[in-house]
Amino acid sequence: MYINFWYPIARSEEVVNDKPLQVNLLGLSFVAFRDASGKAGVLANTCVHRGGSLSKGIMKNGCIACPYHGWQFNAEGECTHIPSLINSKIPARAKADAYPVQERYGIVFAFLGDLPEEERPPLHDIKEYGTEGWKTQLYVFEVACNYERSVENGLDPIHNEFVHPAQGAPMLPPEQQSSPMPMEDIPWGSKFYLAFPSKKEVNTELNPKKTGKRIGAAGSWFQGPNQLVTWIDISEENSFHQYLFEAPIDDSHTRIFFVNMRSWLLEDEHDERIKKPTLDIVHEDVKILESLEPINTPLTNTKEVLVPGDTVVLRYREWLAEWDAKGWRIDFPRLQAEKKATAFAIPSPGRRESGNWVLDPVPLKEGGEQTRTRRTLPSTS
Ligand code: FES
Ligand SMILES: [Fe+2]
Repeated sequence: MYINFWYPIARSEEVVNDKPLQVNLLGLSFVAFRDASGKAGVLANTCVHRGGSLSKGIMKNGCIACPYHGWQFNAEGECTHIPSLINSKIPARAKADAYPVQERYGIVFAFLGDLPEEERPPLHDIKEYGTEGWKTQLYVFEVACNYERSVENGLDPIHNEFVHPAQGAPMLPPEQQSSPMPMEDIPWGSKFYLAFPSKKEVNTELNPKKTGKRIGAAGSWFQGPNQLVTWIDISEENSFHQYLFEAPIDDSHTRIFFVNMRSWLLEDEHDERIKKPTLDIVHEDVKILESLEPINTPLTNTKEVLVPGDTVVLRYREWLAEWDAKGWRIDFPRLQAEKKATAFAIPSPGRRESGNWVLDPVPLKEGGEQTRTRRTLPSTS
């Protein structure tokens, strides 16, 4: 789990102006609400006065009012009112970490980190979202597995025939499975996208009626540790484009925001017909993922026997090592061990502009090249 990436917080309709919402993420808690103008705010949930849980409070004048002594904070994290201080100045330290927010695809996202805007990794841009000829469904669900294991599963082209038998033949012919996957790097991630022979097209309830010019290609990619994309392009008029934004609740629970786009059966009446088999496939994956050992991805590739079909998984782990080296990985065992005695927060960008912050910044693993074994595909010779 890392600071300095965009994380999905909640469906847009869950974030309202009359009731705060508590969201657990990265082993910490946050509060989400809307101010009087409708703008969504996401703050660290711990009140800096004496530790009240802001999300248990109420909304007042577009601010969140702490349930303990009524201090009010706006969406920028500024303390606007302290009921017990009549005619006195609000102390400079009375401020909450407030995180940059973007609302897209029916989801409120927060940037959980302190990087200035120009240095932030991107929130994935879904170009076809909202355009003519595409239908979107958003599914949100929680799974009892580590989010890195979940992302790796989406980058794994060799599990399909075993985990998803209803899909029939694997999408990749055996000769392709046994050689390293051709990949290209993209900003903050890597991608593969390959043609597949027509006889290998997935045989599933989801297989659309083939119309339009055949494309016959599919692929997956990641951007950042928690954004995963899969495209299945049967033809110009029959595609699924699936975007998963993953929110690690802790090291063994993940909330997944699944934006499922299709370029066929565009009418609402087909939504249920698409949703059921899509989520059936997800549950086939989840059943495997929830019983993997260890829960987290191992820190070195000597603890697993990796084969060419795991190439993209390996590349993902190399990127994780890059983010480790930047010092962005949360020291989760330390956070768990110390949080009874210390309230932590993900440092917000405001911490680069002013000092005197009350909550301790979340403990991070030390960065540098040597923090984690660099993981490359072992030679098969
Ligand atoms: S603990 Fe929040 S106002 Fe006192
Ligand atoms: Fe799968």
